[in-house]
Amino acid sequence: MVKNGAPKVIANWKMNGTLDLLSTMVDDLSSENLDHNIIFCLPFPLLGYAFVKYSNIILGAQDCHEQEHGAFTGCTSAQMLNELNIRYVVLGHSERRLHCNETNPLIKQKAITAFQNGFFPILCVGESLDVYNKGDSTSFVANQVKELTSDLDFPYAIAYEPLWSIGSGILPKMHEIVEVINCVHEIAPDIKVYYGGSVNSANAFDIAHCKGLYGVLVGGASLKSDELISIVKAFDQVTQHSSN
Ligand code: 13P
Repeated sequence: MVKNGAPKVIANWKMNGTLDLLSTMVDDLSSENLDHNIIFCLPFPLLGYAFVKYSNIILGAQDCHEQEHGAFTGCTSAQMLNELNIRYVVLGHSERRLHCNETNPLIKQKAITAFQNGFFPILCVGESLDVYNKGDSTSFVANQVKELTSDLDFPYAIAYEPLWSIGSGILPKMHEIVEVINCVHEIAPDIKVYYGGSVNSANAFDIAHCKGLYGVLVGGASLKSDELISIVKAFDQVTQHSSN
């Protein structure tokens, strides 16, 4: 079970990437000695391939099923992922909420099943643009966190991803990210909070300075080695500086 020391950068490749891209990226990261600093949440076929081929990278899944096994065509269980030595799973990403109708109770059940199979679940929350414009981000996220985590007595992380920031190049102001982190910590004081939404090499350093933030969940920029390397380095630099 993963309790401490989770990498600060999570690469969510979504439904992108190829064997060639993975190979290039692993080479690029190894040459910078950064291969252990990222959780690679790859599409399922690439996870199987990476498990066989690369022992030097940390793998994560983008989802798992809430049931242990059974007649669920097209689905993947936590136990299957566990056999590939995967210990991290992103659950309840807004794209799964939108396209696969995932709800908080379902995501919570997935988290429980994942934990029972040795996983550290990373639970996604985040408000729509409408909610943000009304100034209701913190109360919306607080409700999501409460619904997802009430009575959970095992380690997990929260990933705060404002829906309107994903893939748009637009971010909340840094103090707004901090406000949401604070409200998450009021509900779950010791948990790690990641931020996701248009993270790239140009803004990583500022994001890394957000008080209380643990790390980042990166989509588009995680498909480019140079971007990913810069983001990891920004977090390393800020972490080293703040621990001095
Ligand atoms: P982008 O970094 O492409 O905005 O995606 C964020 C995200 O959804 C990560 O899970």
